[in-house]
Amino acid sequence: MLLTNEEKATLDGKEGLARRKAMELLVKYGEALGAERLVDTNNVCVSITGRASLAGKTTGKVGDIDAVVSKFYLDSEEEFEIPRVKTYTCRLIRDMDPVHWELQGIAPGVHEESLKTERFGARIGMQLMHTCAPYLIGNVPVMGEHCAWIESSAVIYCNSVLGGRTNIEGMESATAAMLVGKTPDWGYHLDDNRLGTHLVEVEYQPESVMDWGLLGYYTGEIVQEYVPVYRGVRRAPNIARFKHHGAAAASSGGVEMYHVIGFTPEAHTLEQAFGRKKPVMTLKFGPAERRTAYDNLTSAKDNNVDFVMLGCPHNNLEELWNAARLLEGKHVHENTSLWIFTPRALKTIADLEGITEIIARAGGVLMTDTCPCIGRFSPKGTRTAATDSAKHAHYMPAILGLPTWFGSQADCIDAAVTGKWRGELK
Ligand code: F3S
Repeated sequence: MLLTNEEKATLDGKEGLARRKAMELLVKYGEALGAERLVDTNNVCVSITGRASLAGKTTGKVGDIDAVVSKFYLDSEEEFEIPRVKTYTCRLIRDMDPVHWELQGIAPGVHEESLKTERFGARIGMQLMHTCAPYLIGNVPVMGEHCAWIESSAVIYCNSVLGGRTNIEGMESATAAMLVGKTPDWGYHLDDNRLGTHLVEVEYQPESVMDWGLLGYYTGEIVQEYVPVYRGVRRAPNIARFKHHGAAAASSGGVEMYHVIGFTPEAHTLEQAFGRKKPVMTLKFGPAERRTAYDNLTSAKDNNVDFVMLGCPHNNLEELWNAARLLEGKHVHENTSLWIFTPRALKTIADLEGITEIIARAGGVLMTDTCPCIGRFSPKGTRTAATDSAKHAHYMPAILGLPTWFGSQADCIDAAVTGKWRGELK
């Protein structure tokens, strides 16, 4: 790999041990991937946790979290203090709601451990966003901006909707990137890899958020880690629709980038989306494909629903506002829990607007910072869940062992209020 003099100096330890280890990791990682160089980044998203199980494997001579980060994130035998981040770095989702952690079933010791990690993040200069959707609260990369982000649903949004450039980083490579402001120049940082590979003829117009989730889920399953190009979309989607679509495609497949002709920034035309490439496959999305995706997303059989989860990826204000309108004057069924997830920064606004109060008065809980699949929690005794998120419908059976219904936000709120699943594909 070709390194600049400045990068070589960091590798030689001129900027201290932590940055040397970070640079070593990035060079090894880049060489394994065939990257020819590193690229500067001033936009890193990471997720650092200081799990007790890992802290127990350190000497504890430096602070717990510093030791965990040096050993397990920077792959070092030595333990050292982690210096301030070198580049704009956001901490994404974590495993604990700051207020409702006891409801999540978190023990006081684990809560304290989580707070320690939060203090660590603040000390080294991280932005404590605590959401999987940083683009909802101000981290909105511009066209062509090189980033190093974790979290598949955020990565696909960054690449496809915003024109930012990132691969799905791991915690280790993102941690290294935050310390040196570099990331290997490969994958979606390169023009050629951003071109479309599969053409999707959209014959069924996706209108609702649910339709966009179904479109993504169907396509991801077929194209896997390639780049689909949608032709035939006539109406502009919006943030919630793109958000659900990307999360779904990244779950059923490993899609990190897509194009919608006329609506995403690198696909004004079909020619621009594919460049000099020809589609390797053409598929269609019509009523039958929509039905297939819907059926594949439902794993529940029991109509009694004890847990309704909304907010994957974290809800934006429009989704919270819609939920509040659906809940106004109603009450959640006594056998059912309704938990809605949003970034903490947006909850502050929801508090101000009375949205949190409407949800609480109806018996729901508005949570922040976390989600059931990342935190691995659900209300005690849950047997059957429901969600409006294709991503959570995909992962809840696998991660939490919960049979799950998938439907619209209105179907889910109806299930929360009646305790029964009555949703269907209309
Ligand atoms: Fe976010 Fe959790 Fe979904 S991290 S994308 S709410 S699985």
